[in-house]
Amino acid sequence: MTDNGQYFQRDRTWHPPAFTPSYKTSVLRSPQQPLISLENTLSEMTGPVFGHSKIGPLDNDLIRNYAQTGEAIGQRMIVYGRVLDENARPVPGALVEFWQANAGGRYRHKKETYLAAIDPNFGGCGRMITDEEGRYWFRTIKPGAYPWPNGVNDWRPAHIHFSIFGHAFAQRLITQCYFEGDPMIWQDPIAMTVPDKAAVEQLIAALDRQNTLPMDSLAYKFDIVLRGRRSTMFENRMEGN
Ligand SMILES: [Fe+2]
Repeated sequence: MTDNGQYFQRDRTWHPPAFTPSYKTSVLRSPQQPLISLENTLSEMTGPVFGHSKIGPLDNDLIRNYAQTGEAIGQRMIVYGRVLDENARPVPGALVEFWQANAGGRYRHKKETYLAAIDPNFGGCGRMITDEEGRYWFRTIKPGAYPWPNGVNDWRPAHIHFSIFGHAFAQRLITQCYFEGDPMIWQDPIAMTVPDKAAVEQLIAALDRQNTLPMDSLAYKFDIVLRGRRSTMFENRMEGN
């Protein structure tokens, strides 16, 4: 329930259907049977999921948090925004995690097969807990686009994956952001599973000239709205609520 007593039902037309053959792995990942709702257990609703003391000073600096010598290669940028509820109130204390490919479009993962080079100074993941205003921010390099085995020649646009944890383990939402002006977004088989163009546009971080650091970094703004008419499209909550 919200302050004005209105409950915001999840808008299922805002989210893509789970079964979208143009996104090939959704064929096997989508449910084959009708869904069953399960009540959360007390431990799922109340159990702590992370400790604030474990956040390190470089955890939101992807340019340096894995660097052995020097810094990660790529176009430097700051990504920032707020986590908001359905009434645009800030959500403090949420754990925001982010992960991405390097400037060449290569992930640091043992199953990654793309030929682009590994950057020894770039790990590709970080995290931050939102402050009292619901704000998060991190420094990174712009990820590259990468090809993936879907259709004959499909490419993902530059993107960063996001996870948002609430105060209990069952409260996790996952999404990803793209970057303003990137023509690759509109040929991306994953983004194109979202039926409403306005929902895709809410996944696009806006170039923010006001917050660029001169001679240092561009800035992109990406707000994350948990529910309601301005909700971010969450890829792990297509069917549930
Ligand atoms: Fe990705």
